[in-house]
Amino acid sequence: MIIPTNPFLNNSNEKFENDALVFPWDRAFFSSNGSTAIILTLRDLGIKKGSKIGVPAYICNSVPNCLIKHGYIPIYFDIEINFIPKHETINKLIHKRKIKALILVEYFGLFNIKINRFIKDIKAKNNIKVILDRCHSSFSGDFKISQLSRIDALVYSHRKTLRVFDGGCHLILSKSKLTNFHEIINIPRLSLFYIFHFIENFFYYTRLLNIYSEPIYKIRKMLKYFYKRKYKHINFQEKSKISNNLFSVLSNKNEIQKIKDTRRANYNFLIKELSQFKNKKFEIIHKKLSINETPQILPLLDLKGDLVSFLRKHCISAYHWPDFELPHIIKENKIMYSNSNYYNKSLICIPVHQSLKLEHLKYIISIMSKW
Ligand SMILES: Cc1ncc(COP(=O)(O)O)c(C=O)c1O
Repeated sequence: MIIPTNPFLNNSNEKFENDALVFPWDRAFFSSNGSTAIILTLRDLGIKKGSKIGVPAYICNSVPNCLIKHGYIPIYFDIEINFIPKHETINKLIHKRKIKALILVEYFGLFNIKINRFIKDIKAKNNIKVILDRCHSSFSGDFKISQLSRIDALVYSHRKTLRVFDGGCHLILSKSKLTNFHEIINIPRLSLFYIFHFIENFFYYTRLLNIYSEPIYKIRKMLKYFYKRKYKHINFQEKSKISNNLFSVLSNKNEIQKIKDTRRANYNFLIKELSQFKNKKFEIIHKKLSINETPQILPLLDLKGDLVSFLRKHCISAYHWPDFELPHIIKENKIMYSNSNYYNKSLICIPVHQSLKLEHLKYIISIMSKW
């Protein structure tokens, strides 16, 4: 099935700019995953193979791996303790190392005011393509093109926010070329995608097995380590393709609003409760959500060192990011990339996703109070 780029055109005469919740379909190109979207973005921005690309050191290795596989050279920089790079560091990369594009990450769907300000400053003084990686959270930040004028491209991996099979998506903001059509891929009800989710839900709801326990987590990590291809396959598709399940969410404004509201409410509830803890063995990193932030997770700093395994033992799916997927070169250079290594070890991701109910949140708080 083929759908027009603007599925709302028939029922709405309003300009997209007026509606921050409607995904700008005319500019979006859908693909299988975030790594594919990054490579397609570089191609669409005219960045030639062999070019150097600035990449934050606090990153999952699938990003630099896909760059290397497709002939680009990642040049790493450490982030500051506030999750934004230093101006001088980036200026040096632009002028001395001659990077042609800069990838910046909106970590966990947070810090978007700071990052927008940073991009404005960098773009005002330099001729560099800036790609904002919003793979962590689909509905964070502004969709209004007028607010994003300094950014050359946005990249998404919607499967990190929604239960979807695909999720790669990129929007070229600095070019007038728009996408004509999207092809919808129908995922059969008996596909592996649905079967895996059914099995996961079965164990979760029957409580026959703690699927978040440390041993299961270790097995999953091991399987991922051995079976995840170092270099993801990138499909240089000519047409924008979107799964029926992703389409059904992105084309539903009420659903998007509900997801945003739930994630924000979950985050705020946990912050409020955790702020009252007396004996603090953790630190809250980001206390107040700004109006446009839709969190992927709640980040905490573990000051003691075993919070993830403690929470997992109690069926809570906390994790470190990117954990064993931090690139080797970053792990080996602990002084040069000190903040990235520090966050990889001490930052803990606590779930706030839209499936959580109040009872789950209260349970997280009660377990945290025992730690
Ligand atoms: C910041 C960031 N960008 C891009 C990607 C790649 O996304 P995908 O796994 O969908 O290829 C990841 C993967 O974890 C990521 O963390």
